[in-house]
Amino acid sequence: MITAIYPGSFDPVTNGHLDIIKRSAKTFDKVIVAIAQNPNKTPMFTIEERMDFLKRVINGLPNVEVDHFDGLLVDYVKEKDAHVIIKGLRAISDFEYEFQMALMNRKLDSDIETLFMMTSYKYSFLSSSMMKEVGKLGGCIAELVPDAILPDVLKRLKSV
Ligand code: COA
Repeated sequence: MITAIYPGSFDPVTNGHLDIIKRSAKTFDKVIVAIAQNPNKTPMFTIEERMDFLKRVINGLPNVEVDHFDGLLVDYVKEKDAHVIIKGLRAISDFEYEFQMALMNRKLDSDIETLFMMTSYKYSFLSSSMMKEVGKLGGCIAELVPDAILPDVLKRLKSV
């Protein structure tokens, strides 16, 4: 059985992330979507809110779980008895940073493989920060955020 870990901040999950989750779920026996603390980012949503959002959007995908972790990703991957990290690649600009992270993770644990999945063309411009900026300024984010969480995201964006 192959378990893949899909890590990220998911602040909040977007349709771009959901696309990667659905395609990973078809490719691997089990997928764990793992929310990580990125010390370089100040999140808009708490871990609990992000977990709740993810659980709502993966509803109906029986082999997908949602979790969160502190510390190193490679330690978490080992703890879950997994060997595969999934990352989405949106554009060439993602490549250098992702390449560095993948090589660092390999240096930390050579048994763990990072696999990259190309994001669907229609989400190749999307990031959580850009979606939040557009939403805060009153732009339409309906096609960027899963329907199940859209009202909650809009409510928060209007309150900040
Ligand atoms: N669709 C839409 N947006 C996407 C996307 C996709 N398919 N893939 C990535 N993004 C967006 C994310 O929303 C995020 O946007 P934001 O910066 O506006 O929030 C951005 O692209 C970067 O995403 P990602 O590369 O997943 O970074 P992250 O900050 O969300 O997560 C971790 C990075 C959590 C994987 C990394 O910090 C980590 O492993 N942390 C654990 C500690 C550790 O082990 N550190 C050493 C790593 S070598």
